Amino acid sequence: MTIVKYSLDQFTADMESLIKGNPDQQKIFDSGSSLLERLVSDENVLPTEYRLPAANGSRPNHGTYLLYQGESGLSVTAVVWGPGEHLGPHDHITWGMIGILNNTLTETRYQRVDDRSKDGFATLELDRETNFKPGEITLLVPDTDEIHQMDNHTDRPTVEIHVYGDDLRGIDRHRYDLESGKVIGFRSGRYDNC
Ligand SMILES: [Fe+2]
Repeated sequence: MTIVKYSLDQFTADMESLIKGNPDQQKIFDSGSSLLERLVSDENVLPTEYRLPAANGSRPNHGTYLLYQGESGLSVTAVVWGPGEHLGPHDHITWGMIGILNNTLTETRYQRVDDRSKDGFATLELDRETNFKPGEITLLVPDTDEIHQMDNHTDRPTVEIHVYGDDLRGIDRHRYDLESGKVIGFRSGRYDNC
């Protein structure tokens, strides 16, 4: 018997078809997360070169690889968190779905609780910490539940597939400094901050 695996091309075609119907965000998450679960059920869906940290540049212990960019805005990237890697709280300003391909990753979610009256400052409250395992999905809901911190507490790389409703390059996003309360605006020139 031949087992037909679910490929990246099939996933992006199914996602484009889903988006084409202009579904509401909940429908995208319901149907899209089922598709992403299928995709990340097999670690080998990505070639080896997309499952390793970059090993050079400004973040040698990190890897981001663009897998797909559609005219609809849909973008899919492979993201590799190297051993011990940490990325502080940040937002995304578009919907997102993250599927864990191997190993484990700790995601810490925060809620912004200030009244936004003080420019350049924010108060974040710890919401929850989750250790994600292969095949699991975590959702980013704009304005509601999308500020997270990522930590790889293990001694080997963790690989994820990130799916966003828009091209992160060019979106005005924010990093949050937990100690000072400062909000730092940024734009990703590349897929170097997911
Ligand atoms: Fe992120």
